[in-house]
Amino acid sequence: MAGGYLEFLKASLKSPLQLSTPFASSDRVGERFARHLHLDDDEIVVELGVGSGAITDHVLKVLKNPEKQYVGFELNDDLIKFLKEEKYPNLEIHHASADTLKKVMKGRKVGAVISTLPWSLIPIEMRHDILDQIYEVLEPGGTFSVFTALHVLWMPAVREFWSQMQKRFPTYTYTDELLNIPPCRLYFARKR
Ligand SMILES: C[S@@+](CC[C@H](N)C(=O)[O-])C[C@H]1O[C@@H](n2cnc3c(N)ncnc32)[C@H](O)[C@@H]1O
Repeated sequence: MAGGYLEFLKASLKSPLQLSTPFASSDRVGERFARHLHLDDDEIVVELGVGSGAITDHVLKVLKNPEKQYVGFELNDDLIKFLKEEKYPNLEIHHASADTLKKVMKGRKVGAVISTLPWSLIPIEMRHDILDQIYEVLEPGGTFSVFTALHVLWMPAVREFWSQMQKRFPTYTYTDELLNIPPCRLYFARKR
């Protein structure tokens, strides 16, 4: 299942403001996200910003039934083609923005949401809307795991994102992953 680093790099050169980094996440980041997943057998994990599947590879390993328990969202035209035609033809991955989450997941049991979305590049109204939708689709006790590069934590847009995130998800832990490029912070929040 591995692979996709080159596809990600190529897509980032074409659309730097959509992808935000030329580097797909490392295995260590993927493993950490996967380790935090504790889904019931009838629950789904949603991944926002699948990229070339660097996190997905690790998430799939811990799911009992990946084809039923995984739903992804990816906006980039080249990456969605790679995901759907080459890497994961059998997975449910939507060529759609994260702000269609509620519509797509209506009536389904979401136990976890994982985001590597570039929050600082998403307009403020859409950020708030996506956060609201994540909160709404999650089951009580469901988890929201978030990636942020350490070097953008000081940016006003990212600080604003965190204050909005903490309003909705006051219960969370975090860990830093310094060996990723770029070094990043991973937040693990829980819906009360
Ligand atoms: C930083 S990359 C992370 C990719 C991958 N998950 C990884 O960790 O290597 C962010 C991804 O989010 C996608 N993206 C950006 N805005 C999006 C949106 N509004 N909805 C869905 N995906 C989006 C980008 O195209 C890109 O693939």
